[in-house]
Amino acid sequence: MTIFDYSNGVLRAESVPLPEIAQKVDTPFYCYSAQRLRDNYESFSSAFNELNATIYYAIKANGNQATIRTLAACGAGADIVSVGELMRALEAGIPPGKIVFSSAGKTEDEIKAALIAHIYQLNVESMPELKLISQIATETGTTAPIALRINPDVNAGTHEKISTGHKETKFGIEISQLYEAMNLATTLPGVSFKGFTMHIGSHINDYAPFREAYSRLRELVEDWRARGVKIERLDLGGGVAIPYDKDDETTPFSEYAKIVRETVGDLGCHLSFEPGRRLVGDAGILVSRVLYVKDTPSKRFVIIDAAMNDLVRPAMYGARHSIIPVEFNKSGETTLATVAGAVCETSDSFGDDFALPTTIKAGDLIAILQAGAYGSAMSSTYNARPLIPEVIVLKEVFAQTRRRISVAEQISWDSIPKWL
Ligand code: LLP
Repeated sequence: MTIFDYSNGVLRAESVPLPEIAQKVDTPFYCYSAQRLRDNYESFSSAFNELNATIYYAIKANGNQATIRTLAACGAGADIVSVGELMRALEAGIPPGKIVFSSAGKTEDEIKAALIAHIYQLNVESMPELKLISQIATETGTTAPIALRINPDVNAGTHEKISTGHKETKFGIEISQLYEAMNLATTLPGVSFKGFTMHIGSHINDYAPFREAYSRLRELVEDWRARGVKIERLDLGGGVAIPYDKDDETTPFSEYAKIVRETVGDLGCHLSFEPGRRLVGDAGILVSRVLYVKDTPSKRFVIIDAAMNDLVRPAMYGARHSIIPVEFNKSGETTLATVAGAVCETSDSFGDDFALPTTIKAGDLIAILQAGAYGSAMSSTYNARPLIPEVIVLKEVFAQTRRRISVAEQISWDSIPKWL
């Protein structure tokens, strides 16, 4: 079933016509499909059925409680990067024993909170961090289950801002320093060494770098086992791409699963995955209303009420999300248009050459697709704009899962010192 599809010329989320939601919550808003979240989880997990594997959803991609709860109910754990995400995961019902903590900059308080909660694993990114974890574990009378994040020095072949597996980046421990790190990991008090972890980048469509990285991981496991170290766990990170634009071709997911099986599948390790985008990206859209159609001698601008503060991916990574009208007449003509928001920056553009109905006018609704991952999660109040609502749909019902955060509320976060 296509989750966001037209029926009688009107775009629906599952069985709910989007104009109905727009009328209830006003625009712009994010809309997620619970069914698509479940399907995405199922298709990811079933690819590893015969392996001993757990999926830790990278909640940075979309931290709404309803999103996390939906995936938790499917069996997902959580990959977190802050104490804030720890709170979000626990609140949404993910048990501590199904939480892994990745981050190159864990604070003392965050490490303490993770240890006291007894999470499944801390993914360690540096030797100073390892020493601090040991110290805090000793002080709190806990034992930290740790995995060392390896920087395999692999070029992930994705956007440079989201490539994390080559040695110029801040992520993980370089293989040349692994001997020293392993010495610490296997001898420091308060830490229990479980295995290795890797995350080489995000939105990776050519899977060759995964093969290279996981092969390196295999060599390390064999090498350290030969030295008598017990290696029970491998965390393979996230990073699998999804198609954004209608012309994007993506490698089938089965290829990724094959690489995993061929490189590390037979090592007898428990495998962890940390997908974000692959679980939530195509389960969400951003619905916005046209404010103005501005025809100039050089091009047509469609100015909408969503902007870069609501969805920053086009401005930040040059990402292109498909944009389609909510009401669609198959036989109608289209005109190419640049779609932009109201923020006072040229970078506030969702891109050029979107084929939108020639008759498009102020008040019409449009949908920006594949906005479920790193959309709402990266939104801001830039230009004193409200944070927009989120809605989840299941079959013919929908519910608002985050209310609009008004500017009045934002003003109340500030204070003016008396002496000013
Ligand atoms: N694990 C770790 C350690 C990560 O740093 C990330 C993402 C993930 C898992 C999940 O990766 P995914 O499966 O979603 O690719 N804001 C960017 C993406 C940043 C990804 C950061 N780390 C974007 O909008 O494209």
